[in-house]
Amino acid sequence: MKIAISGKGGVGKTTFTGVLARILSDRGYTVITVDADPDANLGSAIGFTAEETATVRPIAEMADLIEERTGARPGSMGGIFKLNPVVNDIPENYSLKKERIRLLTLGRAKKGGSGCYCPEGVFLKQLLGHLLLQSKEVVLLDMEAGIEHLSRGSTRGVDAFIVIVEPGKRSLQTAADVKRMASDLGVKTIFVVGNKASSEAERQFLQEHFEEDELLGILSYDRAVIDADLKGVSPYDTKAGVIRETEEILDRLWKRVGKDEETHHAG
Ligand SMILES: Nc1ncnc2c1ncn2[C@@H]1O[C@H](COP(=O)(O)OP(=O)(O)OP(=O)(O)O)[C@@H](O)[C@H]1O
Ligand SMILES: [Mg+2]
Repeated sequence: MKIAISGKGGVGKTTFTGVLARILSDRGYTVITVDADPDANLGSAIGFTAEETATVRPIAEMADLIEERTGARPGSMGGIFKLNPVVNDIPENYSLKKERIRLLTLGRAKKGGSGCYCPEGVFLKQLLGHLLLQSKEVVLLDMEAGIEHLSRGSTRGVDAFIVIVEPGKRSLQTAADVKRMASDLGVKTIFVVGNKASSEAERQFLQEHFEEDELLGILSYDRAVIDADLKGVSPYDTKAGVIRETEEILDRLWKRVGKDEETHHAG
């Protein structure tokens, strides 16, 4: 399953992605996490140290790799290059690893992002769209804030969107925009997760604005998350209450996509 996590700036996309990755890894899943935000910071939310994260090179900047696979060098426009380069070994060979988690950082294709018809643009699209997943493998995409960058290229092969929302009208507007875009792009499964709720009134606000079957759950405002962020560690390695709440959200997600059954049958 490939899941894209999206929403307004600062709502908690990266934190949620990091904690979810750790939970999935502990449950025996191989988790390919993709930092699709050019301003990458998913590493610390997963629990990689700053030194480890500093060693990760964005895929879009790996000129030799892109040339080897597409037959053309990034920056060389107008040439002929392969439109379906092989990508399946990329997560294993070009990512940072921790337990069952792989971290890939995409970076940005030079010519205006995902609409780019250039070797690195094609390579990034191919990477997201054509990773073949085994059972018990999950891809989590931590997206850039907003909707401007969403396109068929950047969301190809995505099975579900999770839109993170904060209690408040501005966040709802972005959520509505993301939902519309995702549905225009052919993504049928769209869920919402509330975050930073600090009162019953705020929970109610979210429950009133989303259908029961789209709202996967609501995470509390949690001081431990901020402290973890300040220390540069993952909330998963603290006593943050959002861990248990995120586990419940995952259980609900699996139920709604029929995954628990699938896993059961797969034995
Ligand atoms: N449940 C929570 N309780 C308290 N603070 C939180 C919670 N979730 C996230 N935060 C804090 O909110 C800030 C933004 O979180 P995060 O970086 O995960 O958001 P984001 O949506 O990825 O942001 P960006 O749009 O910049 O990528 C961080 O300081 C984080 O610690
Ligand atoms: Mg982020």
